[in-house]
Amino acid sequence: MVVSFCCCCCFYVKIVEKNADPEEMLLAYLRRKVINKCDFIIFNPCFSHWSVTACLQPICSLHGAAVVTVEGIGSTKTKLHPVQRIAKAHGSQCGFCTPGMVMSMYTLLRNNPQPTTEDIRETLGGNLCRCTGYRPIIDGFKTFCNTLISCQNGDRNGKCCMENSNSHNNESDISGELFSMDNVLPLDPTQDLIFPPELLIMGKKKAERLCFQGEKVRWISPADLKDLIKLKAEYSNAPLLVGNTTIGPKMNLKGTVHPLVLYGGSIPELRTIKWRNNGVTVGAGCSLSVLKDVLLQGIEELGPEKSRVYQALVQTLQCLASKQIRNMATIGGNILSANPKYDLSSILAAAECTLHIVSNGNANIFGIYLYIISHNFLFAILFFLIANPCALQWEFVSAFRQAQRREFSFSIVNSGMRVTFRHDSNVVENLDIFYGGVGPTLVKARHTCKELMGRKWDEKLLVVGTQLLEEEIYVPPTAPGGQEEYRKALVLSFFFKFYMQEVGMNDLPLEYLSALKPFKNEVPQSSNDPVGRPNVHQAALQQATGEAVYYDDIPSVKGELFVSMVTSTRAHAKIISIDASMALAMSGVVTFISAKDVPGQNRRLWFNNPEELFAEEEVICVGQIIGAIVAETREQAKRAAEQVDITYEDIQPVFFTIEEAIEHQSFFDPKRKLERGNLEEGFEKADHILEGELYMGGQEHFYMETQGLIAIPKGEAGELELYVASQHAAYTQEVVGITLGIDSNKITCHVKRLGGGFGGKVMKIASLSAIAATAAYKTGRAVRCVLEREDDMLITSGRSPFLGKYKVGYLNDGTILAADITYYSNGGCTLDESSFIMEKALLHMDNGYKIPNLRGHGLVCKTYLPSYTAFRGFGGPQGLTIIESVLHEVAARCGLPAHQVRDINMYKDEKCYTHHKQLFSPHDMVRCWNECLEKSDYTHRCLSIKQFNAHNHWKKRGISIVPLKFGIGFSKGFYNQGAALVNIYKDGSVLISHGGTEMGQGINTKAIQIASRILKVPMSSIHIKETCTGNVPNAAPSAASFGTDAVGMAVKDGCEKLMRRLEPLIKKHPQFTWQQLVTYCQKISLSATGFFMGPHTSVDWEKSDGNAYYYFTFGACCSEVEIDCLTGDHKNIRTDIVMDVGRSINPALDVGQVEGGFVQGIGLYTIEELQFSPEGVLLTRGPSRYKIPALCDIPPQLNVHLLRNADNPHAIYSSKGIGEPPVFFGCTLFFAIKEAIAAARRERGLSESFPFSSPATAEKIRMACEDCFTRMNPPDRKVKTKPWAINV
Ligand SMILES: Cc1cc2nc3c(=O)[nH]c(=O)nc-3n(C[C@H](O)[C@H](O)[C@H](O)COP(=O)(O)OP(=O)(O)OC[C@H]3O[C@@H](n4cnc5c(N)ncnc54)[C@H](O)[C@@H]3O)c2cc1C
Ligand code: FES
Repeated sequence: MVVSFCCCCCFYVKIVEKNADPEEMLLAYLRRKVINKCDFIIFNPCFSHWSVTACLQPICSLHGAAVVTVEGIGSTKTKLHPVQRIAKAHGSQCGFCTPGMVMSMYTLLRNNPQPTTEDIRETLGGNLCRCTGYRPIIDGFKTFCNTLISCQNGDRNGKCCMENSNSHNNESDISGELFSMDNVLPLDPTQDLIFPPELLIMGKKKAERLCFQGEKVRWISPADLKDLIKLKAEYSNAPLLVGNTTIGPKMNLKGTVHPLVLYGGSIPELRTIKWRNNGVTVGAGCSLSVLKDVLLQGIEELGPEKSRVYQALVQTLQCLASKQIRNMATIGGNILSANPKYDLSSILAAAECTLHIVSNGNANIFGIYLYIISHNFLFAILFFLIANPCALQWEFVSAFRQAQRREFSFSIVNSGMRVTFRHDSNVVENLDIFYGGVGPTLVKARHTCKELMGRKWDEKLLVVGTQLLEEEIYVPPTAPGGQEEYRKALVLSFFFKFYMQEVGMNDLPLEYLSALKPFKNEVPQSSNDPVGRPNVHQAALQQATGEAVYYDDIPSVKGELFVSMVTSTRAHAKIISIDASMALAMSGVVTFISAKDVPGQNRRLWFNNPEELFAEEEVICVGQIIGAIVAETREQAKRAAEQVDITYEDIQPVFFTIEEAIEHQSFFDPKRKLERGNLEEGFEKADHILEGELYMGGQEHFYMETQGLIAIPKGEAGELELYVASQHAAYTQEVVGITLGIDSNKITCHVKRLGGGFGGKVMKIASLSAIAATAAYKTGRAVRCVLEREDDMLITSGRSPFLGKYKVGYLNDGTILAADITYYSNGGCTLDESSFIMEKALLHMDNGYKIPNLRGHGLVCKTYLPSYTAFRGFGGPQGLTIIESVLHEVAARCGLPAHQVRDINMYKDEKCYTHHKQLFSPHDMVRCWNECLEKSDYTHRCLSIKQFNAHNHWKKRGISIVPLKFGIGFSKGFYNQGAALVNIYKDGSVLISHGGTEMGQGINTKAIQIASRILKVPMSSIHIKETCTGNVPNAAPSAASFGTDAVGMAVKDGCEKLMRRLEPLIKKHPQFTWQQLVTYCQKISLSATGFFMGPHTSVDWEKSDGNAYYYFTFGACCSEVEIDCLTGDHKNIRTDIVMDVGRSINPALDVGQVEGGFVQGIGLYTIEELQFSPEGVLLTRGPSRYKIPALCDIPPQLNVHLLRNADNPHAIYSSKGIGEPPVFFGCTLFFAIKEAIAAARRERGLSESFPFSSPATAEKIRMACEDCFTRMNPPDRKVKTKPWAINV
């Protein structure tokens, strides 16, 4: 096999791989062979460029292709590629997604050097980023479009405010746009790599059959179609692999093995496209991207009426998977996988497309539906899809789909519908309706269609049709994925939409028209309003060129082994036996480790709360680590871990939900309470009393880089080095020491950078490190541990679900006199950080409101789920959201606008006390609130929304605005400290070490900015290499939004000490340059530690008294959404945020934190839903089941304003911590959605108060918009069966 790789800048390397393994994917190959790291690649088989998902691209499929990785296009050492300007635009935070973004954009530019913003949106639709919120990435790449970027404060001619002398007030601290286009390299296509001529010549030669034999799989690439047909007849059970997007995930995730695969990707006939009089025939091997291009061409040529089928197909293809997957996935594979969640079969069947099948040498033509329900696909080769798409004059075709997320998400239900009317009439001549996602295969509503034929397309038909569909389409309650009621509602709603579409615009009530318009995905625009100096993230260029090193990029150490965890499959059981004999007999397996192998203590201790590293006698959740397999390679370790046989004896009780824990009174200690005022008096004086509750689901961190480390024994005195992805290296060091029984001084933890942390890499990583260290100790060899995404989600868990039950007393004008709230969190099976998370929820329960009589109880439920842990916000968002829900409900009951009730209850005096008696001034919070009202044009937009809702029956809009008061720092006062070490070398360069962790937030950039200011040397002379316990001991975790406050002060202290030492010399020789100063003063120590002893914070929980926080960060946020009442889909329209970050040290980084945090909040409050089976197994593991926000979820208008003239006497250079607070702003979408649903319900005469929990998924929105369709399945007719998933 011959492939050309370009993995270093600017030339290809020919690789001849004689023993290509059919099981090996390109990503693994690149990591193993060519370079250490590659997130995304493009390859170039026929002079067009395709970005692909490298973990699904078999290396055997690349014969004759040229592969370009991010390292191949530009480098900091030679020359950057213009596309790497993403770094300059602040589009790289942790940097883990950056190479993927760069390569997707590079591909687009190679194919189209002047793309439109829509091209960029489509290209990046499937690239996920967990840090940035996407806006800066888009801003950077938009500079390749021909359109001008201008901020929204500019004038109507698109001029930026900075070019307009009078459009802003002339404050001195305005530095301009967040990034400028000065010095960016222009795009010059002539400078790009050409396709290697050698491959070009090779491609012209007659193809030959290629065979590769791996350990378990044989791969044959047939020479041509004839050869393929022959092979297929001979090996009928061998799958025909083309794009590998269905077969690949099954092999990767489910361990499916096919002993022989036939590769169809190189057969030109399978990629042929032929235009015919009645349509087009498309080769089954055409990718979905090619199919879309063909259809767009058809639409252009045929015009709108004749191309209705094409339009319906394009609409579906636009939302199907991502650009990278569409580049690989083929139409043949999509249909013949016969997966009911796949979208194309229903619409192709409705459009009466036919399949041309070659089977055992015979050619046949089949209708799609008949073929799918009656054939064994393995024996056939789909040769052509013969489409018959030119719609007749009286023929109408539509496709519908609804998914968890609008793009890059499998549909929950999809449908294709076609109706033909008798000439010039509304009498149905022919009707076909197909549904995917309601049964194990494609479903045809045969009976309904038959009954409706010959009827007039009118309201009577609608009523009868709906009734018939309700009876005919049965969604079993046990259907995989659950949501049976929602799916049933979608079946009917899609039919209703189809009915409306074909009634014709003129005959529909005006207020129905908007229901027919699908939501349009747009790219976010912003108006940034920065102060300070927006320096680029210190490592952004390395991240954009693929040079940045994460722990798993570190090359293998000699003799390195891999460890894979063996986890419990039972939620609560006694371990009867562990049998690893089968696993130990497998090739490459070195050993099995369990509790018995731990030389020190088999536990991780956190504030006197122990958690076992390996379960010893009993398991208390599914996913708990029982043992681990150590093997030569990761594949061997993974396979062997699956073979460890554990016998259990189930133990009672076992329960998972908060409600069940309350029933069992299963709570961890301590139980907390905070109280001010007199509740009883407050309730007595109130006009009304309201009782209610709000449930908030949990959240998975979904950092792009999963957890892991490398443990390297040094072979001397028990010394051990760990290269670990930890936010708290000192804690990891401590836990490893206790596990091995070795002093901390022999254990060194190194942290270069994290590919995202968000609180998830504080606690569990210490356990993983201790396990890997145990393996290294036992074997005496280096051990690498890298969790697969699925295992990471299962083992490490995330943000805990919360339930808030409240009783509130209020006056008619909305003034709240008393609120009594009990917070329950699901802590899972061990306490971890849950009690501190609960404390933070209680400490934030007042948000910005002066409720005179306020009481909060906090109980952490002990259940049999994996233990929940810290996540950005740390209980703050939950505490805040529940009080916001109280405000929202009170407003609804009073019939008052929610913002008015919020305003009336807000802290407003110059000096206020929180409910835990901490003094603060709400002045800047009120400023944020007022500015947000003004900048969002709130009052005016409320009126517009009212009008919109009055004129639209099936689409509704809602708006919501909330204030924010968020405590910064640790309420455990001793954590409020920071340390740093500053070394100046003789050449004048400066090396800083500090105790914080760089995980994208830019802590290193800010530290360098601070050092640069004090030492008066350019930033380029200052370097931060890593976080290392050997340089800065006992550091606090990088958490609580306090990293920069602590580290910044420590760096400042260290630098000031050095400057004090240098001062006499400077005075004596004022003319000396920096170099002269530091080389001359040989007898002055040029190394200094810096320390910051932060404030003492603590709370007396008995007295509800204490300064819990160092200070407060304030803000306000307003969001508007639109919902589709028929499908539950929603679109975020606009968000305005005003944030008080004090005097920002680096506005680009701070705006990045605000946007990134807010977008994580979008996920928390609207789409990220964790589902557990009734047996306590996490079902939503991996990106195909768990959806984080993608580009399509970002409001097209996202405006972040930093509050001007804000100060903060407490923190470094008057700045403020900003990491955590903005997550909470996602709740504005939740409440805006609630407002929109309330508007729909109001119109239908239903109560505006209704139960609604977070996240506001499409299912919940649809079911809350009750109507005749949802009511067709009344509760008394529902069959009681075991649910698919439970709310924990
Ligand atoms: C992340 C992700 C997201 C996705 N999202 C969506 C989505 O939203 N909607 C949707 O509809 N689909 C979605 N898909 C599925 C995707 O469209 C299909 O996997 C793809 O179309 C299958 O084509 P393939 O060439 O990759 O098939 P392969 O994986 O190569 O093969 C799949 C099956 O089809 C058979 N096959 C393939 N071609 C032929 C042929 N010519 N003749 C006979 N048998 C053949 C193979 O033998 C095999 O059994 C997604 C996939 C991924 C990985
Ligand atoms: S910068 Fe995108 S995931 Fe971190």
